[in-house]
Amino acid sequence: MTSTTQPDKESGTDIAFRLPRSEDGARMLELVKASPPLEPNTCYAYLLLCHHFRETCVVAEQEGELRGFVVGYRPPKEPDTVFVWQIAVSSKARGQGLGKRLLEQLLAAQPEGSVRYLTSTVTPDNEPSARLFRSYAEKLGVPCEESKLFGAEAFGKDQHHEEEHLFRIGPLPGSGRTPHTPL
Ligand SMILES: CC(C)(COP(=O)(O)OP(=O)(O)OC[C@H]1O[C@@H](n2cnc3c(N)ncnc32)[C@H](O)[C@@H]1OP(=O)(O)O)[C@@H](O)C(=O)NCCC(=O)NCCS
Repeated sequence: MTSTTQPDKESGTDIAFRLPRSEDGARMLELVKASPPLEPNTCYAYLLLCHHFRETCVVAEQEGELRGFVVGYRPPKEPDTVFVWQIAVSSKARGQGLGKRLLEQLLAAQPEGSVRYLTSTVTPDNEPSARLFRSYAEKLGVPCEESKLFGAEAFGKDQHHEEEHLFRIGPLPGSGRTPHTPL
């Protein structure tokens, strides 16, 4: 993926989708800070995602501004899966399909047929996020399974944190199992 642009009907200007560069890390952190209930990670974490996991991340830019991004990775024991760590759309661009387009671009950036599942975790109170993943699965015409991944207790007694539910979208159309021999 070099860069692909799509027209934005609302503003009449194009939105460009591309893989991130290291200078996007600090901008991602700023967008996350402005996007509760997303939890900000350190700037270093976003830099590492943009550097080591660049192929499983996409940014959306409009008139030089970061409108949204998705960051993820392939879990080492599930190489046919792309796990979405975080996805955020700036408040003024929400509800216009950008979240779904970021997921589309993320999958389009993967080698053909290499992704069987798209996964993410969502806290029970995050309805926009749950809607995004369910609606994307509906669009693809594939199941979206939901299960508990981490209970609240996993985050420790001192930190109030809701449980995290795993959303698993797939099997995706046209996907083949990637041969994998566990050690
Ligand atoms: C979650 C988020 C990325 C969705 O982005 P978005 O660009 O607004 O999403 P889309 O416009 O593509 O909408 C996708 C679906 O979610 C639904 N949706 C979006 N916002 C919603 C809301 N506030 N309440 C209910 N449904 C909502 C849309 O109606 C659409 O469903 P449909 O296709 O059935 O109509 C955005 O709300 C956001 O950045 N939230 C804060 C950060 C966050 O919580 N990230 C997810 C956790 S990793």
